[in-house]
Order: sequence, then C-alpha cells, then structure tokens
Amino acid sequence: MDKVGEAYRRVGRWSKLYDGMISNSSLLGRLAMKYFWRLSDEKYEEFIRQAFTGVPDGFDGRLLEVPVGTGVLTMPRYKNLSGASIVCADFSEAMLDSARSNAQGLSNVEFVRCDVGRLPFKDESFDHVLSINGFHVFEDKEAAYDETRRVLKVGGTMSGCMYVKGLNSRTDFFVEKFCERHGLFTPPYETLTTLSERLKGMYSSVEITHVEAFAGFVCKK
Ligand SMILES: C[S@@+](CC[C@H](N)C(=O)[O-])C[C@H]1O[C@@H](n2cnc3c(N)ncnc32)[C@H](O)[C@@H]1O
Repeated sequence: MDKVGEAYRRVGRWSKLYDGMISNSSLLGRLAMKYFWRLSDEKYEEFIRQAFTGVPDGFDGRLLEVPVGTGVLTMPRYKNLSGASIVCADFSEAMLDSARSNAQGLSNVEFVRCDVGRLPFKDESFDHVLSINGFHVFEDKEAAYDETRRVLKVGGTMSGCMYVKGLNSRTDFFVEKFCERHGLFTPPYETLTTLSERLKGMYSSVEITHVEAFAGFVCKK
C-alpha cells in the first residue's frame, strides 16, 4: 500500500497533468494515449464508451464508484444522473481532493476515503459498482474482487474497465518498465481469459469486451 499510496499522492499533486492524460485532452496526454496505450482519438472514444457501457442512461439507484481518482472521467457523466445516489471511494486523499473540486455543483455525490479491500459499507447496499482503471492498480486484488461483490445487491451490476496483459506488447512493456516501477500499477495482471474465468465464477452473467489493452466488463450478480 505504501508504494501505491505514495505514487498516487504524487499523482494527486500533479492532478492537472493526470487529468489531461486520462481525458485525452492535453497534447502530452494524447501523445501518451497513442504511443503507449495505442489509443487513437477514435479508439479513445471507444475506450470511454466501454468504460461506461454498464451504467444505464438515467440510472437512479445507489452507485459506488471505486476508485474515483480525480473524478475527471466520471463527474461530467454524473451531471446526467441527478436521480442517483453516488458514493465515490478512493484511498488517496490527494486524489479525492481533486475529485471534490471536479464535482462542484453536484449534490448527489459523496466522497469516502477507504481501501477497496475493506469497504466500510453493508452487504448488498449498492445497485451498481463502477470500477474504472482500478483492478490493475489494487495490491490486494482478491480482497477487491470480494468486497466489490459483497456490497452489490443481488440483481445489481458491476462494471468498468481495467488493463489486461497480453494484447499489446508495447503497452505491456510500458506497464512493466514504467507504471509498475513507479507504483502506479501492481502485478499480477489479468489476461482476457483469466478475467473472464474469474468473473464468470463470481457473477451470474458476464460480458467482456476490449479496446486495445483495456478490458471492459459488465457483470450481473
Ligand atoms: C489509475 S487511478 C484510476 C482513477 C480513476 N478511476 C480514473 O480512471 O481516472 C487509480 C486509483 O486507485 C486508487 N487506489 C489504489 N489502491 C487503492 C485501494 N486499495 N483502495 C482504494 N483506492 C485505491 C489510487 O489512489 C488512484 O486514485
């Protein structure tokens, strides 16, 4: 946790740089998206569609997002979910600070600092769990899979996306030599096959897609 915690404390301090990259809006970010993640502008749009595909338009239930990071991808979408009750969790105070400022004007979103492996919520207390770019970061992946399922209601949906290994060698090289070394990602990583097998063992229905090295998942409990 220390290495990942320290890494995201630094990212939080440079949140504008992070936001520019992950939202594909800065020049540097777009170059990184294209070169390391192999996401052209069109593929980036597909990646975003994939990340949100499980959340229905007009969703008005209780949604847990973990990890929210700076919220740059999700806060603009939450503006269209005014009937939903949304809890955004992350263990980095620095990232949460940025998320709070990206959430200005949203009254149905609250922020909780916690570890995904020990979620401070009751069993079956959410209709939807959204996890974008989280599982390749979490250190205790087993606990993260167990906890996100535990807090989901029967009939609820867990969706989002994560990096998976083995689809793009340049991305895999960058992940190992840069992201992992700097504590931004934590191995072992899923492949499309291991992810599909794992989720099918946990959920009653599972759909897996991918855009370059990012797998999207929509799972019903
Ligand atoms: C790559 S960012 C993704 C954030 C956001 N979903 C996005 O796509 O921009 C990973 C986030 O995971 C958070 N994180 C890492 N380990 C965590 C844990 N065990 N519990 C909660 N959050 C964690 C980090 O603080 C960081 O904000």
